[in-house]
Amino acid sequence: MSLSNALSPFLAFVNPETLQIQPNTGGYKKYFRELSGIYADEVAFDRLAESLGSAVAYRVDEARFSDRSSNLITGISVLEPGKVGQEFFMTRGHLHQRADRPETYYCLAGHGILLLESLAGEVEAMEMRPGNLVYVPPFWLHRSVNVGAAVFATLFSYPADAGQDFEIVRQAHGFSQLVVSGENGSWKLIPNSRYRPRTGQEVEAYEARTRS
Ligand code: NI
Repeated sequence: MSLSNALSPFLAFVNPETLQIQPNTGGYKKYFRELSGIYADEVAFDRLAESLGSAVAYRVDEARFSDRSSNLITGISVLEPGKVGQEFFMTRGHLHQRADRPETYYCLAGHGILLLESLAGEVEAMEMRPGNLVYVPPFWLHRSVNVGAAVFATLFSYPADAGQDFEIVRQAHGFSQLVVSGENGSWKLIPNSRYRPRTGQEVEAYEARTRS
């Protein structure tokens, strides 16, 4: 990799009030109605979608100055608080398209869980408050879950060629565990009864794809 492919040094500002990174190259908003199918309680989702359908569930702003593997994409994810039935608001979750690419998440605001799942189905629920950092290793799926009463905001950084594979989450009917409300405003994990584990063959296919 020639150095001419690399970005020049730059200084950015993470605005603690607006929870935006400046400069940024844009990003996207995910509306509540677009999250149909990710929550276990579909009746509760449909009911909520009637009132909240056009509301923003989460947004991502990023400094994506390059798609080359030698560079990083850094951005901010802001997830609204709420519940669908007993399940806390969450992002769709993904594996990196190039699954051997890692990522870090640093909590800027709120109280959330970074839910990690290996291809084999092992789960780690990392509880985050401002100041916590989570390392997502290669080959681990990840999703943010807001278990607090205010927005849950994280600053993330990952190799610019990683990409996102959302389909692997959809095919498994989510993650193997759900983050739901527990006693006295707390949270807990319960098994996802709709979960379909990946077969050994499927796991090998994901691993092989990164070698090609
Ligand atoms: Ni990621």
